[in-house]
Amino acid sequence: MNVQDKPEDGAAIEAERTKMYAKLRELNAYGFWTVQGEMEPPEPKVKELAHVWRWSDFAPFVEQASRIVPHELADRRGIVLHNPGLDMQRPSTTNTQYVAYSVYVPGEIFSAHIHSPAASRMLLKSDGKGYTTVEGEKAYLERGDLITTPSGTWHDHGNEGDEPMVWVDMLDIPVAAFFNAGKFGFNYTENGVQIPSQSATRSQMYSRRFYGTGGVRPRFAEARIGNDNGSPQLHWKYADVRAALNALRDESGDPYDGCIVDYVNVMDGGPIQKTQNFSMQLLRPGEHTLSHRHTSSSVYVVLEGSGSTIIEGEEHKWEENDIFCVPTFKWHEHVNASSTQDAVIYCVSDAPAVQKLGLYWEERKDRKGTITTHGATIPS
Ligand SMILES: [Fe+2]
Ligand SMILES: [Fe+2]
Repeated sequence: MNVQDKPEDGAAIEAERTKMYAKLRELNAYGFWTVQGEMEPPEPKVKELAHVWRWSDFAPFVEQASRIVPHELADRRGIVLHNPGLDMQRPSTTNTQYVAYSVYVPGEIFSAHIHSPAASRMLLKSDGKGYTTVEGEKAYLERGDLITTPSGTWHDHGNEGDEPMVWVDMLDIPVAAFFNAGKFGFNYTENGVQIPSQSATRSQMYSRRFYGTGGVRPRFAEARIGNDNGSPQLHWKYADVRAALNALRDESGDPYDGCIVDYVNVMDGGPIQKTQNFSMQLLRPGEHTLSHRHTSSSVYVVLEGSGSTIIEGEEHKWEENDIFCVPTFKWHEHVNASSTQDAVIYCVSDAPAVQKLGLYWEERKDRKGTITTHGATIPS
């Protein structure tokens, strides 16, 4: 029987169809055509929202937490930044990243642990005596330094200084949760004895000395670390990255990101973690980039200066130590508000995972507003 041939049977067929849908639901299934709109959106359906977490709002709470939240209550004193578009049950700053301001008071040691999610810290404030030890490499951190703890590495944190240490944690926890692959371990031991922090088994600035000079790599280096899927260099000094930016400042730079450098895995030239790309971008005085959008999301930390990022036409102002996110596939452009001072923004994005999975899509606008993707013009 065919409904087109016998329209008078339409009602009977509709009733039969309704029954069929109910039966399929009982079998935990459904017709593709009933959800096609949901499954084939013309644009990515993005729940996360553009947002700025202002340091001026959080600094008092960071200070307060350092006074009234004792070590016993908080094994890692992080204030998690939650995206207002995402479900509160899930600790997510974006769909793929977990970001927190964390504070460590003088004398504290946060005990060694290990996990499958990849983690990183961007140091905001310290007197130079705060540290992280990763697989025996003890790294003292200064403002703008990056330290990573790749998947499967033992790490512990502490503060031997006289001032609180504040950093920004950026982890791929939501990605690990999506794959049901989040695994954590505690109770670190050496010679059969459980201890809170690792002995320093690698010399000072080990990974920077071994891998931190562009273009050369010691043949005798032990490059394998953790689950062997990240960069063997763990610690990057801000002074080195800033010097690299300064050396490039008179070049034209990237039309969408200004004068930008990526942190790279010296073993293969790729991103330093499989799920996170790290970059530092200098927006020169008065610089205003062109707009693009891509199927990767980014979280930024402002290290120097002030400016704004225009996301889908809305201006989001930022200044030092603010953190902001650009959600997936939203048009965005960056502006340095000053005509005399540099602005430097640090970015962690999920692009490497999206690219490896073959899901990356980017669209770019030129000065005339013409949009291109993969080098081809998109008809309007
Ligand atoms: Fe950790
Ligand atoms: Fe971008």
